Amino acid sequence: MVLITGGAGYIGTHTLIELAKDNIDFIVYDNLYNSSKEALKRVEQIIGKKITFIKGDIRDIDSLKKLFNSYKIDSVIHFAGLKAVGESVAKPLKYYDNNINGTIKLLEVMSQFNCKKIIFSSSATVYGDPKIVPISEDSQVGVGLTNPYGKSKYFIEEILKDLYSSDNEWKIVILRYFNPIGAHESGLIGEDPNDIPNNLMPYITQVAVGKLDRLSIFGDDYNTHDGTGVRDYIHVVDLANGHLKALKILDKINKVEEINLGTGKGYSVLDVVKAFEKASEKRVNYKIAKRREGDIAKCYANPTKAKKLLNWEAKKDLEQMCKDSWRWQSQNPNGYSN
Ligand code: NAD
Ligand code: UFG
Repeated sequence: MVLITGGAGYIGTHTLIELAKDNIDFIVYDNLYNSSKEALKRVEQIIGKKITFIKGDIRDIDSLKKLFNSYKIDSVIHFAGLKAVGESVAKPLKYYDNNINGTIKLLEVMSQFNCKKIIFSSSATVYGDPKIVPISEDSQVGVGLTNPYGKSKYFIEEILKDLYSSDNEWKIVILRYFNPIGAHESGLIGEDPNDIPNNLMPYITQVAVGKLDRLSIFGDDYNTHDGTGVRDYIHVVDLANGHLKALKILDKINKVEEINLGTGKGYSVLDVVKAFEKASEKRVNYKIAKRREGDIAKCYANPTKAKKLLNWEAKKDLEQMCKDSWRWQSQNPNGYSN
């Protein structure tokens, strides 16, 4: 059985569907800090079966021990974490405690129960401002990170590598996500930000649905084809499938594998706005604003390692990402709290 920490969240819920399609047994552990039971109910509706869910925090050792005592868990996909970049600058200790301390507690309990297989959700943010794009996994990491969120991902990667050095029985895959957007094609699950969204796609969809007035495009003077920032947007269903593929190779690896999950294509903010307008047949009101602190010009993946090692590649294009993001938003204007 696979333990899915943070399995009620945006990427977690989509991953549950990929696992269920492959008949993999899983259990979800989440404190519901940034998610809801409704999301899991919707997944149950999609997969047509009940999900085993335990509400709990990864920092709670007793609760984790109880979990490992009650279920035969042989590997973990570890999504649980806080991810708001701006909040992490204002509240660094909250982020370090939740993400780093939480991961250490989880690893300790896993060790005690001799469960030594883990897939970790890292981020392209660990590359900082890359010297060369597309970014391959052997690029420099940990330099020029501008916020505690990004640093927490980098520190956890280092902790995992030290753990492996101390005990080669561990099987560890670090997945570095680029920019996940989109939603399951049913329109039943998707990204449901609590507040005003920080990320581009949820902001766009909320403008399109009339919840927000206008998108601010953070800078049009970058060294890119149209001056706006370029990112590697990846459909969340493709990303979710990457976890299934990683799970399949976990037993075979004999070092910590870091793997980019991206499409290899970079799109600018204006490219995304135009693609969204076409896919949704909605106008997106926007203005050009000043650059956002900590942002970089270009970030997109070299995804060849994922292709080689996992036999995985992203299949869905930007049009599909926009269509699916819009279906989710338009069918659920208030997210899960309809
Ligand atoms: P999300 O917030 O939707 O999901 C994270 C889940 O973890 C939530 O359900 C939350 O309630 C749970 N959680 C948080 N802290 C917990 C704790 N201490 N104990 C138990 N559960 C806890 O975020 P997501 O977009 O699905 O991201 C999943 C993972 O991928 C995160 O680790 C995130 O940092 C990482 N990641 C996300 C992105 C992105 O753009 N979405 C990019 C790179 C990496
Ligand atoms: N952008 C805008 N206006 C907005 C929001 C974003 O113009 O309202 C621009 C940004 O300047 C950037 C692009 O849209 O050029 C994408 O921004 P996002 O905030 O959606 O994504 P980032 O690439 O900044 O960062 C995201 C996550 C991080 C993660 C990183 C790499 O927020 O947590 O991807 O995985 F680390």
